[in-house]
Amino acid sequence: MTEPAWSAVDDFYGSLLLPEDPALEAALTANAAAGLPAIDVSPAQGKMLYLLARAIGARRVLEVGTLGGYSTIWLARAVAPEGRVVTCELDRHHAAVATENIARAGLADTVDVRVGPALDTLDGLQGPFDLAFVDADKARGAEYFAHALRLSRPGGVIVVDNVVRGGRVMDADTDDAAVTGTRRFAEALAAEDRVDATVIQTVGSKGHDGFALAVVR
Ligand code: SAH
Ligand code: DHB
Ligand code: MG
Repeated sequence: MTEPAWSAVDDFYGSLLLPEDPALEAALTANAAAGLPAIDVSPAQGKMLYLLARAIGARRVLEVGTLGGYSTIWLARAVAPEGRVVTCELDRHHAAVATENIARAGLADTVDVRVGPALDTLDGLQGPFDLAFVDADKARGAEYFAHALRLSRPGGVIVVDNVVRGGRVMDADTDDAAVTGTRRFAEALAAEDRVDATVIQTVGSKGHDGFALAVVR
């Protein structure tokens, strides 16, 4: 569900704060042409990730769920040229489109796209990372969060996307794995005393959703 006002406000602030961006627009065009689902973060959300990474002076960023690399480009811009983004993607086709989009944005040397099940990739990674953005299959959110925590430095930031899903997170009786997985993640987050965390609900061009924000102690 997306209220017209939510998109209008995103457009209004976007027109003020988000200048035309050929590389990001080309990425979205290429994603659509390649048949990728349009489930990238919104421009405002992408810029928020970029600003978060900048605010903490991030040099090493971990992303779980690349899709066409739209969020990856935002994160990579925040850490380039010395920093690095490692991004995990299951789907070869998505990863190939992302690799092209990232190269077109001039960030090929900043981003390492790892193809395969994220849990396998994460198992083989070494930290420390300054920032992690978790945005892959929602059923495994708790596992991705555990890896992100293991790989984070003290003071590191973990952002988990789509923890509200139009309010469906409130449905304790569903068998939708995205919802049960998100609820399991929420319980793990609450039980984890190595982080301070909050959840912010959002509305905008992507409807009603939200993200969890955690800082590692
Ligand atoms: N972060 C992206 C959107 C990611 S969409 C952006 O905002 O631009 C979620 C992605 O996670 C999809 O591309 C999907 O293929 C990928 N994915 C799903 N299951 C996965 C898994 N087990 N391991 C890695 N990636 C996975
Ligand atoms: C979906 C996935 C996302 O990561 C997102 O931000 C929005 C929607 C989805 O799978 O529907
Ligand atoms: Mg998402």
